[in-house]
Amino acid sequence: MNDMAVLETVDIEERNRQAIEILRTNDRGGYNIPTAGLYPYQWNWDSAFAAWGWSEIDLARAWTELETLFKGQWSTGMVPHIIFHEVDEGYFPGPNVWGTHKSPQTSGITQPPVAATMARKIFEKDPTAGRAPVERLFKAMGDWHRWFIESRGESGAIAITHPWESGRDNALDWEKAAEVIDTTNVGEYQRRDTSHVNPEMRPRKIDYDRYLALVYLGRDVGWDETKIREQSPFRVADVGMTFILLRACRDLAWLADQIGQPRKEIDTWIAHLEKGCEQLWNAELGCYDSLDLKTGKLSGTKSVGSFLCWFAGVEPRDSKQSLEGVLSRAPYSIPSLDPASSRFDAKRYWLGPTWPVVNSIVGLGLQEQGETVLAERVRKDTYEMIMQTGFYEYFNPMTAAGEGGNNFTWTAAVWLAWVTKGLEQ
Ligand code: GLC
Repeated sequence: MNDMAVLETVDIEERNRQAIEILRTNDRGGYNIPTAGLYPYQWNWDSAFAAWGWSEIDLARAWTELETLFKGQWSTGMVPHIIFHEVDEGYFPGPNVWGTHKSPQTSGITQPPVAATMARKIFEKDPTAGRAPVERLFKAMGDWHRWFIESRGESGAIAITHPWESGRDNALDWEKAAEVIDTTNVGEYQRRDTSHVNPEMRPRKIDYDRYLALVYLGRDVGWDETKIREQSPFRVADVGMTFILLRACRDLAWLADQIGQPRKEIDTWIAHLEKGCEQLWNAELGCYDSLDLKTGKLSGTKSVGSFLCWFAGVEPRDSKQSLEGVLSRAPYSIPSLDPASSRFDAKRYWLGPTWPVVNSIVGLGLQEQGETVLAERVRKDTYEMIMQTGFYEYFNPMTAAGEGGNNFTWTAAVWLAWVTKGLEQ
């Protein structure tokens, strides 16, 4: 898409119809792809959001989405970021590059665990129908959360071993930390993303070289978490991942109560993470931040991940003023990076664009914590962007132009499940 997005004259009914159609068109039988061409497989957190969207039109299908996601779970508890159900040559790096030797084939890294939060949302819509699926999923979700705490929680906050794990691939939070990655052995490769989308809207070549170097490192040690921790130059406590896991643990504990399962162990994870969040507070910046575990330095980045503190249920400290500042600098909020940053780029992926999917969870958190004015601003901006240009992957925060992929599952899903809920029409 481009900056000259044609303003369509559609009404909300038409957008609702299109959103449902997108969910159906991207359905590959028990799971949704994010969008055809650019992302032809099942992505982890995309699927959790897809389930939320499905729950507006078909509860049984919503539960199936989550159950299909957990079919890719490893015996370690890790739930991979991509499940390659059916090989598609249009995506790189595909299953052979990852070399994880799993069935179904998967990548070797994870993604933000929003599944338990979405399981709770879907359960709340119909607790009777939701009981059996939650009983089936409960152990799997707990195993995944335990894996995070045990394999990635050594600092109290949650470490990512690859920028793709964060779901915010090229965020500034880890750009500096990634500079030490040796890319000399990466060699030639053919990117496929830039044949689907304008390269200005995607990560740079140097970013991709580093992504691949980390994939090769993981593959060479057989995706062994201990070896990765010892051998990788990259390990960052991601503010977004930490907040999302903390929230997911709270929702899992709530679900435990509903189905009569013990929550004691989950409560220890919550306490561990609450404590871990403290070190992510960046007083100079006035918001929570990501921490380079190799150098012990905070990144100094005001990114949208910082504003998940309400969603996580942690003390926001001065985050409200910081968020208000960011909102004052972007008419279509929340930009993924503060426009005051010299690295802000309104088109480039996680260095500026607004992502409706992240808005939905920041917005939920604000609403729940009584920040109604801010919550409604975020919701209204998301509404405007989608009304003006449609169901894009992300949007230019200055113009509302749709960018990246189109007909995007999670944008359609959050439209149905969050954007249009409670709107004063
Ligand atoms: C990109 C996004 C990531 C998402 C994936 C599929 O890699 O950064 O968050 O899960 O696309 O939509």
